[in-house]
Amino acid sequence: MVKQISIVDAKDYVDQEVKIGVWLTDKRSSGKIAFLQLRDGSAFFQGVVLKNEVSEETFELSKSLRQEESMWITGTIHKDDRSHFGYEIQVSDIEPIGGSEDYPITNKEHGTEFLMDHRHLWLRSRRQNAIMHIRNEMINATYDFFNENGFIKMDPPIFTGSAPEGTTELFHTEYFDTDAYLSQSGQLYAEAGAMALGKVFTFGPTFRAEKSKTRRHLTEFWMIEPEMAFMHQEQSLEIQERYIAYLVQRVIDNCEYQLGLLDRDVDTLKKYTKLPYPHVSYDEAVEMLQKAGMDTKWGDDFGAPEEQYISEQFEQPVFILNFPKSIKPFYMKPHPTDERLYVCADLLAPEGYGEIIGGSERETDFDKLEAEIKKMGLNMDDYQWYLDLRRYGSVPHSGFGLGFERAITWICHLDHLREAIPFPRMINRLRP
Ligand code: 4AD
Ligand code: MG
Repeated sequence: MVKQISIVDAKDYVDQEVKIGVWLTDKRSSGKIAFLQLRDGSAFFQGVVLKNEVSEETFELSKSLRQEESMWITGTIHKDDRSHFGYEIQVSDIEPIGGSEDYPITNKEHGTEFLMDHRHLWLRSRRQNAIMHIRNEMINATYDFFNENGFIKMDPPIFTGSAPEGTTELFHTEYFDTDAYLSQSGQLYAEAGAMALGKVFTFGPTFRAEKSKTRRHLTEFWMIEPEMAFMHQEQSLEIQERYIAYLVQRVIDNCEYQLGLLDRDVDTLKKYTKLPYPHVSYDEAVEMLQKAGMDTKWGDDFGAPEEQYISEQFEQPVFILNFPKSIKPFYMKPHPTDERLYVCADLLAPEGYGEIIGGSERETDFDKLEAEIKKMGLNMDDYQWYLDLRRYGSVPHSGFGLGFERAITWICHLDHLREAIPFPRMINRLRP
């Protein structure tokens, strides 16, 4: 029996006969030879069918195959230094499986909306395949990093009664005879987790009713939220930069082929593994923007243009420290010497990608936290459990949230977040 393999393992089977389940992406043939462009999910590669080496029937079949038709192929693996993948298969037999008539995505240019309508098929393309492989590497790297650093993975609920990041972007849903929201952040639960387990991280979907159409906003996105008991903000910033550098390094180490498919320059990525990352205070950032002719005033939040400008001034990701209270959520710890500010930071990705992390040290004092929640006009009953974390053995603690698709978009150098998640959800996009 011929061994069934994935083409990604080709290097272990050079000059051996193997069997692979594939789809046809494209083909070209002349009288004596047919070149089949194939994919098996793990990579894209070429199959060569020589008329003189196969049955008449197999050669005719190879010429009649349609785009995205599926089949078993049997053949011998050869090195192929001219192709990006590096190996090809010389086909000896083809066994068709599923036919494919008029595949909608062809080699011609398609508009984005068309591709988004066919996202379930678009995922098969080289580019989308590469992005999903890199996403997978970043998922695994995240687990590895936090496990190696003594964190416990903790899963917060999706149905919640609280609104950590403000009440304007909540998805409301009925929950039997009461109301619930889809979680916009697992942070408050992660704080409970940190008080129980020390260092925790969450990694799950979060939801925000973002009404604007931007390149940086999804309504459903994945967030990694580490939360650390007995840790101050400086220690949190160190974990943040080590985590980001680790993610980038893992992609460099294990996704060379995919970075090549995306034309992502590896030397550029290497710069992001160098630590430490620069720190700029909010005050300094405002000054930078004003000098550049922008009409930013002290107290303004930064939008996409401001973040883009700042991040373009640095070769590495950059931390913006200590934002004014008025533009950040209630749970942050006030600055010890400047009462207008919180002890918090956003991390901006380079190349104009803007905020990928938001984080802070947390308010530990019961009375101050209760007052902040009241000031927000939130329903106190919904936050009593959260206040318990300050009633019983309150300790200094810090945490942050990485927007996973934002990080992928930056590392893969994509134009829009919609390509960083298998099935993006946006204001005008619920299907497929
Ligand atoms: O800055 P944010 O709102 O912070 C929090 O949610 C905190 N509770 C995190 C924490 O301290 N545990 O969101 C964190 C990150 C942002 O930096 C951004 O990268 C991403 O989540 N993000 C979004 N990503 C995609 N689509 C959206 N609509 C996003 N909103 C935020
Ligand atoms: Mg933020």
